[in-house]
Amino acid sequence: MTDLFNLAGRVAVITGGAGLLGMKHAEVIAAHGGSPVLVDIADAHVQARDLEERFGVPTMACRTDITSPSAVRGLLDEVLARFERVDILINNAANNPKVGASGGVNFSRLENFPLEQWNADIAVGPTGAHLCSQVFGSHMAVTFRQHGRRGVILNVASDLAVIAPDQRIYRQPGVPEHLQPAKPVTYSVVKSGLVGLTRYLATYWADSGVRANAISPGGIYTGQPEAFVQKLTSLIPMGRMACTDEYQGAVLFLVSDASAYMTGHNLVCDGGRTAW
Ligand SMILES: NC(=O)c1ccc[n+]([C@@H]2O[C@H](COP(=O)([O-])OP(=O)(O)OC[C@H]3O[C@@H](n4cnc5c(N)ncnc54)[C@H](O)[C@@H]3O)[C@@H](O)[C@H]2O)c1
Repeated sequence: MTDLFNLAGRVAVITGGAGLLGMKHAEVIAAHGGSPVLVDIADAHVQARDLEERFGVPTMACRTDITSPSAVRGLLDEVLARFERVDILINNAANNPKVGASGGVNFSRLENFPLEQWNADIAVGPTGAHLCSQVFGSHMAVTFRQHGRRGVILNVASDLAVIAPDQRIYRQPGVPEHLQPAKPVTYSVVKSGLVGLTRYLATYWADSGVRANAISPGGIYTGQPEAFVQKLTSLIPMGRMACTDEYQGAVLFLVSDASAYMTGHNLVCDGGRTAW
């Protein structure tokens, strides 16, 4: 039986590749023989070299703003010039709007949420994912028709694509009501939009050899304040936040032949939070 998780020779473009989870996706792909291309507005050359040394696979880092259509088209040319193929696209980049207040106004609250922030978050989330899917998905569909090689798109959503944020966990004691922090509206809109995009792409290219799925991770523990962690984990049946490497198995499953008959699915990995 062939190894269903083997990615040898496959090239995976990962947006937001310099970030926390982007690197984790890249690690598991490299560990299974694939070549990760780290795409980010931040420089990811050091991380790409580190992956190359640790896993012995060719890698690439591209400084690209995925909100720019011409930059994304240029990215495809760059990747093809280096590898002559693209097999996997992971739409992982995000603006990740912050919860908080400044200057006597809390801009994370719906009443005050700035249109500029809305536009910026949407530009990176669904628009960036659409532009990358348009360019790389179209290329993978053509490759399938010409050479029979299949492609995969994976959109990184969130448990908050499935449920609304519980705003009670962001509240801070002693803060007046109008200044209470809130999880920004764009987080829900961006993540729900990515799940919608997933279903659209899955059915659009179902007969063109390109699968599209989403993963919806729950929150990762990165040293958040204890009071916040306690409130959040009380909403999670497994009673804890995720570790950074706990999505690697699901990502490998969704980008490899192990999920060959899956498309249009949103795989929720949330410690059971949405089951409650
Ligand atoms: N960390 C979590 O707890 C968690 C939970 C659920 C879902 N997610 C999702 O996982 C994904 C990765 O999250 P993370 O925690 O690694 O975030 P992160 O902030 O560490 O990484 C996001 C990366 O996207 C890049 N980026 C932003 N705008 C860009 C643009 N225009 N072009 C190219 N790159 C751009 C950033 O520079 C950054 O490196 C995001 O979609 C996030 O919403 C994260």
